[in-house]
Parts: sequence; C-alpha cells; structure tokens
Amino acid sequence: MEIVYTQTSLLEKITALRKKSLQIGFVPTMGALHKGHVQLLKSARSENDIVICSIFINPVQFNNTADLERYPRNPEEDIALANSYCDILFMPSVEEIYPNPPKEQYHFGLLESTMEGYYRQGHFNGVAIIVKRLFDIIQPDIAYFGKKDFQQLAIIKKLVQDYNLKITIQAIDTVREEDGLAMSSRNKLLSPHARSVAPFVWKTLLKAQILKKEKNPSQISEWIQEQFKNHQEFKLEYAQLVNAETLEEVTEYNQAESIVACIAVWLDNVRLIDNITIV
Ligand code: PAJ
Repeated sequence: MEIVYTQTSLLEKITALRKKSLQIGFVPTMGALHKGHVQLLKSARSENDIVICSIFINPVQFNNTADLERYPRNPEEDIALANSYCDILFMPSVEEIYPNPPKEQYHFGLLESTMEGYYRQGHFNGVAIIVKRLFDIIQPDIAYFGKKDFQQLAIIKKLVQDYNLKITIQAIDTVREEDGLAMSSRNKLLSPHARSVAPFVWKTLLKAQILKKEKNPSQISEWIQEQFKNHQEFKLEYAQLVNAETLEEVTEYNQAESIVACIAVWLDNVRLIDNITIV
C-alpha cells in the first residue's frame, strides 16, 4: 500500500492506473477505522483491480467545533488496518484540501433539509464538497458507502445523478457490534456505562419493525418516541419513518414502496444515528 498526501501525487498515480485500464474502487472515510469501514474495503477489494481509501476528517461537514475537536483520530492503527485491503491510502492535510475556505454550494432539496440536515445545518453541503472533490480527482468506477448513514447515501446518489458522474454507488449493510449497536467511530467516545445501554437504540428499531403488523407508520414513530421518553439517559432528536427514495415522511404504508425508520439520539454527549427498513 502506498500512502499519498497530496492531490497532485494522487492525480499522477490515478492517471497511470487509468492508462492501464484498471478498475478503481474508492472508499472515502474520516478514519478511526472499524469493522464497518473494513466491510466497505473488503467489498471494494473483491470487485475492483485497485482499491483507494481516503482518510480525511473533513472540517466543513462539522457543524459543531467541539465535535470536530474530539472526533477520534488513530492514524497509525488506521494505516495498519488499511494496509491489508488498499493499494493507495490518501491522507491529505486540511491545508492541502482547503488552502482557501471552500465556496461550493450544493442543493439537494428535501434530501438535505430533513432529519440530519435539519439538525446539522450545512452538514451535507460539507459532505458533498469533499466527496465531489475526491470523485473529481479519483474518478472511481465504483464508490462504497454505508447504509448506516442512510441520508448521506441518498445525497451521494443524487450528487452522482445531478452531475452525471460515471460512478456506481455501492451501498453496504450496516455492520453491528454483537449486541446490535451500529459500529461508528464516535462509539469510542461513550463511557463504559453509556456503551452498555447504547444497544437500546437498535433493540427499539427491531421492535418497531415487528410492530408494522399492528401499527401504521405514524403510530410506529410515536411508539419509538415513547420508548425514549421512558429512558431518561437518551435524548431523542428525531424518529421518522420515511420513503426510502425521497426521504419524505410517511404516515401510511401505501405512501412508499420501501419505508425506513431513521433515528438520531444523544447519549452521554455523543450523537448516535441508526435506521432499519420497515418495509
Ligand atoms: P465515516 O463516518 O468515516 O464513514 C465512512 C463510510 O463508512 C461511510 O460511507 C459510512 O456510511 C460507512 N460506515 C460507517 N459505519 C458503518 C457501519 N457500521 N457499517 C457499514 N458502513 C459504515 O461518512 C463519512 O465518514 C464522511 O461523511 C465521508 C463520506 C467520508 C465524507 O467526509
């Protein structure tokens, strides 16, 4: 595996690979790699000639400075892990990517204004800025994203569509801890006690899925809200059942072919997100 720190040197390598007509798989990350990231890398490894991974804690997608400052960072462990799956690891500095504050403005309509976008203003513009810039340099054939960040996945698909990019977006199922907690770099910030209660999020979503037999979507989201009211350690930000394609909130089953329940909660000053397909 080669580690590359500058865009110029990355571009040089990509140009050489393109000349050989090699198929490129790309996995963008913010590091503190865990088994969820590894699953994306493994899929990329099995479907492409070359795997490129980026590790860049993208400051412009953080709407909260404290969150950016305490975001977990383990470059040495990341390099060791990535080494087993990648050909090129791109680890640029903030100055390398943003010598000047970026000015791009992306618009994704409801996809960016609901749920995560509502509670984290500017977040998806920041995600789109970095992902589009990385796509432009790397021009991967396939790029891999996790379903854990369900709304981000929808935004990336729209970005590819809006700019007519020749990139296939591959969605990867959420990898979980044995007790059900969705793997996330932020889990490292949970106190041992908070970590022990955190699986309540996934357990509640699983029960919500079973409730589809007796409750309609609005009743299910009310039911989820009730569960968190009864569990004081959590502060629920939102629980919504949405159309899996448009992210419009649904109240009845006939309003969408596929419905996903999405949730964001605060626990021990850490924000956790998760989702489950209801139908
Ligand atoms: P990060 O949170 O590091 O996640 C990188 C990729 O790993 C994302 O596509 C995310 O959905 C996926 N992922 C995270 N946890 C996962 C899990 N438990 N199972 C499966 N996949 C998982 O998402 C970002 O970084 C950034 O917003 C980024 C796209 C890199 C832009 O900065």
